[in-house]
Amino acid sequence: MKRDLLRILDLSAREIHSVIAAGSAWKRRGGRRGAPRPLAGKTLAMIFQKASTRTRVSFEVGMTRLGGHALFMSPEDTQIGRGEPIRDTARVLSRYADAIMIRTFAHATAVELAQSSTVPVINGLTDDHHPCQVLADLMTARERGMDLRKMRVAFIGDGNNVANSWVEAAHVLGFALRVACPEGYEPDAAIRKEAGKTGRGDVRIVRSPAEAARRADVLYTDVWTSMGQEAEKRKRLAAFRGYCVDAALLRLAAPNAIVMHCLPAHRGEEITEEVIEGPQSAVFDEAENRLPVQMAVLERLIRH
Ligand code: CP
Ligand code: NVA
Repeated sequence: MKRDLLRILDLSAREIHSVIAAGSAWKRRGGRRGAPRPLAGKTLAMIFQKASTRTRVSFEVGMTRLGGHALFMSPEDTQIGRGEPIRDTARVLSRYADAIMIRTFAHATAVELAQSSTVPVINGLTDDHHPCQVLADLMTARERGMDLRKMRVAFIGDGNNVANSWVEAAHVLGFALRVACPEGYEPDAAIRKEAGKTGRGDVRIVRSPAEAARRADVLYTDVWTSMGQEAEKRKRLAAFRGYCVDAALLRLAAPNAIVMHCLPAHRGEEITEEVIEGPQSAVFDEAENRLPVQMAVLERLIRH
């Protein structure tokens, strides 16, 4: 049966550790000539209904390095933008491509695509989840010597798609996660409940960034206004005042703590210039790790 990666809960703890190990192996190989090409002749169709730099380029380069090919599809240039149903698109693409990646708004769209396609579907970000990002983040934490079963992660800011994927990761892997957010901006309640059924993580929502940051191994933040929420920008700027990851907050964390951000960042809003450019920032390693970790995902999901 085909496997999809729509959310972190689609993977077991063992699979996450194994994807990270495989990602590290791909990273060590780099783009070397003579490296294995397990996906020679395979094609990944990539549907982007939102903007992207990292996801688009890392998937495309990843497929090239694996010996395959990736093709970019935007709504403007395809029949998707003219209203062709997603289930029809899924059935047609399944007859050409070996896997589909989708970045879209409603998570239900990615689910419908996966249900109607006969090839694996990978979520490249929806309003509710960003699993590939968090796999790259976990790989980065591992590289920096963190124990993924025991680390303490503080997510400061909006309980958005990235935060939801962190909630799932905490429950699957068993680490401690504190999400500090204003009232009304918590990670999705249904996702928290569903992920909590695995019963392994220690996930708590707090209001105080300082409380979350104290002794944390990872301080994580993301934009306050995600793609699709532009109309709420002003309201959000006011709601998140006091939730900036700055040097004072970082001083409360563990001495070797790292700072993460999925990017793109808004310096001076959710993170200061000093922190994002400082010695504890791992943000460009996270971005780099999107490539090898997704190569590991592609290799695992696409049938040889
Ligand atoms: N972090 C991330 O997914 O970046 P892009 O929006 O540039 O793909
Ligand atoms: N939460 C952000 C992540 C961007 C990679 C968004 O959805 O816009």
